[in-house]
Amino acid sequence: MSSRIQAVRVWPGWLRLIHGLMALCVLFLLFSACALQVDETRQALWRDWHLIVGQFLMLVLGARAMLWFSPGVGHWRSLVDLRGQWPAMRQTLLCYLSLGRLPLPNWYAHNPLWKPLYALFWLVLGLMVVTGMLHDQYRLWPGFSPASVHEVLAGIVTGFVAAHLLTAVLHDGKSEGGLISAMINGVRYFHIPAEKPAAPEKTVVEIPLILEPGGNNEP
Ligand code: HEM
Repeated sequence: MSSRIQAVRVWPGWLRLIHGLMALCVLFLLFSACALQVDETRQALWRDWHLIVGQFLMLVLGARAMLWFSPGVGHWRSLVDLRGQWPAMRQTLLCYLSLGRLPLPNWYAHNPLWKPLYALFWLVLGLMVVTGMLHDQYRLWPGFSPASVHEVLAGIVTGFVAAHLLTAVLHDGKSEGGLISAMINGVRYFHIPAEKPAAPEKTVVEIPLILEPGGNNEP
């Protein structure tokens, strides 16, 4: 069936900029954390950069937090308000479980299933920043230090990033909406089915009343 394509700017510039900076920071932080383990000759260098980028990430998270209170798709309400979204969440999950064989639902900006995960992710990143800053300073109680919490959270962030990248590619591959490029240029494409041809009008067949001359058919 033919369809009409409508380009809609769904992601505001600030949200895209913050997404890009957050992605770069998180990827660098994960990379430098690995480098700290394996590159013994340049530990001080990796540590310094890990700390610098970690502090920059704090600013980026602060900037994103400001968008929680600005109207639009970045507002906190649009991330936690899941009313009416359960069927789309279920459909997204079914698509993953069928390894992409079942169709994805349609959605406007954030994928309904991922919305609450983004909120959790910011919480985890915030905790990472705090435990990173307290890394060597406190021991909360034996065997449970900010460093150990930081390490556990780093595993969660790695899992989130892997799942996010995989599903972003799956979503993009299964839709014609340009989902990944939308996070760069802001524009998504919505395919609107062409209007069905109008049902033919009920045809009224007029049967002429034939009056037979002399017949008993007067009305
Ligand atoms: C470490 C890297 C990344 C992190 C931590 C990350 C995190 C996030 C977060 C938090 C959001 C929600 C946007 C918001 O409301 O601010 C988001 C959305 C999105 N990201 Fe990423 N991202 C990363 C990398 C990427 C990359 C490399 C791509 C492209 C392949 C990508 C594609 C997208 C898309 C398409 C959305 C919108 C998804 C949706 O439909 O809900 N992300 N990402």
